[in-house]
Amino acid sequence: MTRSGNRPLPNRPAWPSPLAWCPPEDSPLLGGAGPASDEPGPGVRTPESVEQQAVTRRYDRMASLYDVYDAPMELMGTRRRRGRLLSHARGSVLEVGVGTGRNLEHYGEVSRVCGIDVSTRMLARAKRRAAQAGVGADLLEADAHALPFADDEFDTSVATCVFCSVADPVRALRELGRVTRADGRILLLEHVRPRHRLLGRLADIATAVTRRLFGFRANRRTEENVLAAGLEIADVRREGVWREIIAVPQRCASTDGGEDTGS
Ligand SMILES: C[S@@+](CC[C@H](N)C(=O)[O-])C[C@H]1O[C@@H](n2cnc3c(N)ncnc32)[C@H](O)[C@@H]1O
Repeated sequence: MTRSGNRPLPNRPAWPSPLAWCPPEDSPLLGGAGPASDEPGPGVRTPESVEQQAVTRRYDRMASLYDVYDAPMELMGTRRRRGRLLSHARGSVLEVGVGTGRNLEHYGEVSRVCGIDVSTRMLARAKRRAAQAGVGADLLEADAHALPFADDEFDTSVATCVFCSVADPVRALRELGRVTRADGRILLLEHVRPRHRLLGRLADIATAVTRRLFGFRANRRTEENVLAAGLEIADVRREGVWREIIAVPQRCASTDGGEDTGS
């Protein structure tokens, strides 16, 4: 049995419904904590697997333009945040949703980098980037919902701008917890649903468009999802809708409540 199989889940928060005509806010359709991740058997079609297929197709289609489309966000702070967060990477590193490999340049003295992605075309670009930069990384096609790695295989797990598009974020976060050593770190850089009531509702509405056009949700509650996955947040930096989260796979962190640097 895996470690995640034994881990008790905290009670999921009961969110107020944002819009009367919307599905319940913990519905995966709205990017909420989603189902309690009773893992379906292989080959079983679930709303999450259907959604994941659509996400994968979307990133395959966007791969050739992704770096161009993402460039303004990089300049407006994402690059700086990547560098700051990834300075905490140690030892053997797993990056989930490696995309076009934007993070590869940020890993310092680590012993191994392994990157996975569901999109063949995003991954092809990451491979090209790694080869051009002379970075040694194992890059392979895999799904964050079912990582092809042993329990406790990595010292550090990383995901940046991924949990806005993964279909079942709680299940995928549990997988990160499973493959990361108990004394390791899970580093997440994610944009989340704004805490401001009106902006949060706007993000819910915008998600109908961002999902279809770009394959991501603007209203994911990733901090809550991390907790729902049984992980502990050791530190979090909040800057507007951005979160730099350092989580640990088991309840062994000295939580300080985090640093709030924005609204
Ligand atoms: C917005 S891009 C971010 C790419 C990269 N992490 C970055 O920071 O530039 C999201 C990436 O997550 C990948 N992805 C989405 N769902 C995934 C899943 N279930 N397993 C692995 N990768 C996934 C997509 O294919 C895409 O490459």
